[in-house]
Parts: sequence; structure tokens; C-alpha cells
Amino acid sequence: MGANVGIFCAVFLLLTQAMGVPAVAPWKKLHVPWKKHHSKEKFVSKRQALPIDTVFRIPVDVSNSWGPGNFSSGIIDLGGLQVYEASTSRSTLTKVWGGYQGGADDHGFSVYEPTGIPEGFFMLGSYCQPNNKPLFGWNLVAKDVSANTSNPILKKPVNYTLIWSSENTKIDQDGPIYIWLPIAPDGYKAVGNVATNTSGMPSLDKVMCVRSDFTDECETNGSIWGLDTANVYDVRPSNRGIQAPGVRVGTFVAGNPNPPPISCLKNNNPIPNHMPNLKQIKAILEVYSPVMFLHPDEEYFPSSVEWFFANEALLYRKGGGIPEIITLNGSNLPQDPHNDGAYWIDLPLDPAVQEIVKKGDSKSALSYVHVKPMLGGTFTDVVLWTFYPFNGPARAKVEFITLNLGKIGEHVGDWEHVTLRISNFDGELKQMYFSQHSKGMWLDASQIEYQTGNTPLFYSSLHGHASYPHAGLHLVGQNAVGIRNDTDKGNVLDLIAYQLVAAEYLGSQVVEPPWLNYYREWGPKIDYDIDDELKKLEKLFPGRLRSVIENIVKKLPSEVLGEEGPTGPKEKDNWNGDER
Ligand SMILES: *[C@@H]1O[C@H](CO)[C@@H](O)[C@H](O)[C@H]1NC(C)=O
Ligand SMILES: *[C@@H]1O[C@H](CO)[C@@H](O)[C@H](O)[C@H]1NC(C)=O
Ligand SMILES: *[C@@H]1O[C@H](CO)[C@@H](O)[C@H](O)[C@H]1NC(C)=O
Ligand SMILES: *[C@@H]1O[C@H](CO)[C@@H](O)[C@H](O)[C@H]1NC(C)=O
Ligand SMILES: *[C@@H]1O[C@H](CO)[C@@H](O)[C@H](O)[C@H]1NC(C)=O
Ligand SMILES: *[C@@H]1O[C@H](CO)[C@@H](O)[C@H](O)[C@H]1NC(C)=O
Ligand SMILES: *[C@@H]1O[C@H](CO)[C@@H](O)[C@H](O)[C@H]1NC(C)=O
Repeated sequence: MGANVGIFCAVFLLLTQAMGVPAVAPWKKLHVPWKKHHSKEKFVSKRQALPIDTVFRIPVDVSNSWGPGNFSSGIIDLGGLQVYEASTSRSTLTKVWGGYQGGADDHGFSVYEPTGIPEGFFMLGSYCQPNNKPLFGWNLVAKDVSANTSNPILKKPVNYTLIWSSENTKIDQDGPIYIWLPIAPDGYKAVGNVATNTSGMPSLDKVMCVRSDFTDECETNGSIWGLDTANVYDVRPSNRGIQAPGVRVGTFVAGNPNPPPISCLKNNNPIPNHMPNLKQIKAILEVYSPVMFLHPDEEYFPSSVEWFFANEALLYRKGGGIPEIITLNGSNLPQDPHNDGAYWIDLPLDPAVQEIVKKGDSKSALSYVHVKPMLGGTFTDVVLWTFYPFNGPARAKVEFITLNLGKIGEHVGDWEHVTLRISNFDGELKQMYFSQHSKGMWLDASQIEYQTGNTPLFYSSLHGHASYPHAGLHLVGQNAVGIRNDTDKGNVLDLIAYQLVAAEYLGSQVVEPPWLNYYREWGPKIDYDIDDELKKLEKLFPGRLRSVIENIVKKLPSEVLGEEGPTGPKEKDNWNGDER
């Protein structure tokens, strides 16, 4: 949806504000109602099989898929500190404890620790995850190979602090859990918490702390579980991007209520050391190229950029002049990295040709692939961009009525993407990102749909082309009022056809097409008046909902009217950074 995102977010926010609901439903905190009922008496478990009782494995084994190279070689050297990925796929995570209430779907969470790991490696912290998903995770263990006994990279903690115990928490659980923060010696940091199922302090040999120069700042992301007396969070490096050295350890933090900070690991070696080479990128795409489903009613299909240019898309320059026909590879588009509004692309002049171009051309469509290191080079992010010449009008749902929002949402030049996050330890797909306008969502590989084998599938929403992991109506808003994002299995687009357009770490091995270095707008400024469009709509709403629309019109920020057209992939924050 590119730059009209601003409008959409605004419309959506206003819709929800007008209805008195928060834009993002806050994660439901648990209010322990059973506390009263079960105080003192022993809790009798009524639990049924949970998703976590199943171990997730990616559909087809990929261990022999990659050929020679550093990618997927099992161990990554961070510059004297080797790390190995203890994971559920290798059965190297052993359960320590489970609690079966609270958190996502009220299923609780479970804690694991790495066991059966290679000789010389040490645990850095425990792993945990919610019980509403199959068991699927990883946790790094480390070995000091720097051979400097006077200044080791790993040292035992000097003590532990008990952060939280569930002794007095009356939930259905495997006996109490104790969560400990390792107290690191001077110059060292804890990169994980340790969980035990007995009350005694863990042995000082249980876990290792890491010398500060091998650690990076980290932040909590996503709640794993929470209660009024305790919270458990996922942690990840605070600075994430192509050049950020922070490594996600796969540990967690707990707090009562707020967790004491821990650190992440830091890669002191060149970040691309374990990235796939060209042959391995090809293999990755053969294994994981997703299939995209367009909605059966879709009217605005993707195309190749070349098709769009070949159909006489035009380059306009601010201040007039005759628009220029764009060469097939975009070589006459400005190549300086500025987005100053001086140029924009638009449809061809002939109205009949415009209609043809707006509809796109699935036959020519392909994905434009950007490969980049992430999380200190322990992951390969494969970003698959799809180009649509035109983004159709948005549709709103007001109770049982679906409204076409006039011209609102329409724009020329729509860049959309999904991202595959692949482990550089073992080449396994761990997560997939679904971009939905300026936001999106990560899902674990255990939560996505597969077409066949390891081929993930996703849905492009009707007109808006946002990416969704599952079919259905994704109503943005509540109480049956909101902007529609319909997805369904209509036309299939197999993204196996791709062009590798960028992989900065491979230097001159990958030639970027000139159009990729066009930093200006891929479509003109919107040419309609949002106020007028909304007023037209207002007339269509039933009386009692009219105030909702009036509110939208009243609160619509004026800068929305001056909204710029959509920008290309390199102008998006995720080009060099992490997804949002
Ligand atoms: C307690 O944790 C240890 C690992 O630290 C594990 O081996 C053991 O099975 C756990 N006990 C129970 C009852 O789950
Ligand atoms: C070992 O560490 C000490 C203390 O930082 C340092 O002075 C010394 O140069 C290191 N030795 C080697 C071989 O790196
Ligand atoms: C370890 O920490 C505990 C409190 O968590 C404290 O009572 C104890 O004295 C500490 N031990 C040492 C050796 O510092
Ligand atoms: C961050 O938290 C969100 C929300 O819980 C979650 O969907 C996402 O997977 C997390 N990101 C990472 C990189 O773990
Ligand atoms: C492979 O890894 C080794 C050791 O970390 C490193 O020296 C080498 O440069 C890496 N090769 C590539 C192509 O990155
Ligand atoms: C782009 O196409 C032009 C011909 O229109 C050609 O001269 C030029 O070499 C091409 N550039 C690249 C980078 O492929
Ligand atoms: C879909 O949802 C997004 C928010 O995630 C919203 O901005 C957009 O307007 C919606 N509608 C369409 C048609 O994509």
C-alpha cells in the first residue's frame, strides 16, 4: 500500500477511536479468578492435550539441501566465541516445567533447557514459550575458543538472584518454578535467566556469563506469559539491521512485575561470514519460495516492473516538461538516493491503456528478492517484493454492508513484501513476516500454511494487496465496523519465478537493476479530495452510524491531503532494518 498507508492508518484509527475502542487490542492480562476457588487445596489438573505437546518440524528435512559453504554449518564463530543452536528440531531442549493457565489462549507456558549439546559448550539461559503453539524454538549455547585463559570470554556467575517463584501462584502447574538471574562477575553480563523446578539455588556451573565486549543491548519483545504478580517476555537485540551485530540468544526474561535487564550476544566477526553464497540462495529459493493466493474478485494483479515500463509508464518531473517513457530496466530514472518529490512515475496517457496497465499482468509477475543478514548474521532474511501497477480502492464493512471507499486507497505503484527468516545454523525456516501496509506480523514457521513440502503460502488481500497468513475476512476495527482486508484462494501466483535484485554482502556478484535505485515516488500524489470522498460516503451510512463517519471527516488530519505517492523497496525502513 506504500504511502497511502498514512491515510489508511488515519481512517482506521479514526474509525476505531470513534467507536471508543483502542486501535490495538492490548494483550489480555490474566486476572487469576481461580485464586479464590483453589486457595490451599491441591489443584487437580483438568488439562487436555495442548499444542505444545507436539514438536514442530519443518515439513521436509533440509539438512542436505545447501551444498558447501559456511551457511548451515551448525556452529557460528562470533570472533572467538562459538555458538551452537540447541533446538527442538535436534531434540536438545529438555522440559523443566510447565504451567497450564494464563497467557495466550489461557494455555500457559513451558520452560526448557539445552541438554545433550556438543562437547565444551555451555548453557547461557533457559528457553520458554507459550503452550498454545507446537514446541518450536532455539536457544544458543556457547564455547570459548579464544584460548586466552587470562581473559576468558565465558565466566561462571558469582551468585544468583531469585526473580520469581510460582510457589504461591495457584495455577495448574508441574509444581513450582523458580526463575533466577545470574549475577555476573565484573566485566561480564548475564544473557539469560535460569529456571529450576526445585527451590535450591542452581549450581554456579549451570550457566555462563559473557564478557561485556561480546554482549549487546537487548529489549523485551512480545509477552510470553503474564499475571498480576509476574511477567515473562521474549528478548531480542535493541539494534537490529543489516549491520547490527546483536545476536538473539533465545532466552527470556521474567519480572515481578518488571524484569531486570539482561544482554544479548554480539558478533565480533564480519557479520556476513555465515550467509548463503549465490548457489545457496538459489537452493533456499527452490526450497522455500512461497505461493501467493490472490482474491477471486481481485481486479488489480501484479506484474513485472519491465511489463509496467514496457507499457509506457511515464516519468514526470516537478515543474512540468514532457513526461519521459521509461526504459525497460529503468536506466533513465534518477539514481541519486533522495526522495525530494522532484520526480514521480504515472500510468501511460491513453485512458484505454491506463485501464490495461492498472489491471497488471500475472504472467510476467515475479518476486524481486533481497537477501540480507539479520540478528548479527545468525539469520538470513529473504525479502520477496511483489510489484502491482495499481492498488485498488479500499472497502469498508459496516455491519452487514460492504462499502467501496470511492477513490480512497487507490494509487499507482504498489510495492508489497513477505520475508522468510532462515537460520544460518541449519538452513531451517524459523519465521515468516507478512507485511500489511506500514506494519505487519511475524509468525513462527509452525504457524504458517504450506502448499506442499516446505512451500509456504500466503494471501494477498483484495485491492489492498496486504499479505496475510490465512484466508478470511481480516476486519481492521471492531463491532462489525472496519476496513475490510479480504483474503481467499483465488488465483495462485507461484513466486518461484524470481530475480535476485540485491544482496549487499555479496558485493558485485549481484547487479542491482537501475529501477531499484530510483528513490522517488512510483505513483503520483493522490488527485482526489479525501474530504469530498468521505462526505460522499457519509451519505451512504445508516443514520446511527453517520456520526462515526462525521467523526472521521472532522478528525482527518489535513496533512493527509498532501500525502505523497508510494515509494520503492529501498525507501522502506526494512531495507536496511528489521521488519516492524
Ligand atoms: C526438573 O528439571 C530438570 C532439568 O533441570 C529435568 O530433567 C526434570 O525432568 C525436571 N523435573 C520435572 C518433574 O519436570
Ligand atoms: C589475553 O587477554 C589479556 C587481557 O585482556 C591480553 O592482555 C592479552 O593480550 C591476551 N592474549 C592473547 C594471546 O590474545
Ligand atoms: C547470594 O545472593 C543471596 C541473595 O540472593 C545472598 O543472600 C547471598 O549472601 C549471596 N551470596 C554471596 C556469596 O554473595
Ligand atoms: C516480537 O513480538 C511480536 C508480538 O508478540 C511477535 O509476533 C514477534 O514474533 C516478535 N518478534 C520476534 C523477532 O521474535
Ligand atoms: C567462512 O567462515 C570463516 C570462519 O568464520 C571465515 O574466515 C570466512 O571468511 C567465511 N567465508 C565467507 C565466504 O564468508
Ligand atoms: C539498461 O538498458 C539499457 C538499454 O536500454 C542498456 O544500455 C543498459 O546497459 C542497461 N543497464 C543495466 C544496468 O542493465
Ligand atoms: C487492511 O488493513 C490495514 C491495516 O492493517 C488497513 O490500513 C487497510 O486500509 C486495510 N484495507 C485494505 C483494503 O487493505
